[in-house]
Amino acid sequence: MKRGLICMTGAVFLCLAGVNAHSAEEKSVGAKSLFEQKCSRCHTIERPKSKQKTRAEWEATVMRMKNVNGCPISDQEAEIIINYLAENYGP
Ligand code: HEC
Repeated sequence: MKRGLICMTGAVFLCLAGVNAHSAEEKSVGAKSLFEQKCSRCHTIERPKSKQKTRAEWEATVMRMKNVNGCPISDQEAEIIINYLAENYGP
């Protein structure tokens, strides 16, 4: 019984370690590749790339993609993408 418990605890730790490694990896992905990866799923990447918008406009666009069109990104990823677009695709 005691031995079984130790084994289970070990499995939980392994699992948590895996999750942590995964999110650390995601954070280190550059803004550009995050944008290119997430924003080319439904339309080509040229669709946002061909636009020039202010920060507020990019924010509205990315939030619409996320909340209305169903782009699967977290709030944190949305923020990274908005910053990237505002810096590189401004008016
Ligand atoms: C789940 C599918 C989906 C994903 C993922 C997606 N889009 Fe879109 N996008 C759409 C649809 C549908 C339209 C056309 C309707 C509209 O404009 O809301 C569109 C239109 C656009 C347009 C043209 C309209 C405008 O407001 O200028 C831009 C720019 C754009 N998307 C940017 C992005 C960016 C940036 C991302 C990544 C954060 C993204 N899209 C991810 C579905 C998606």
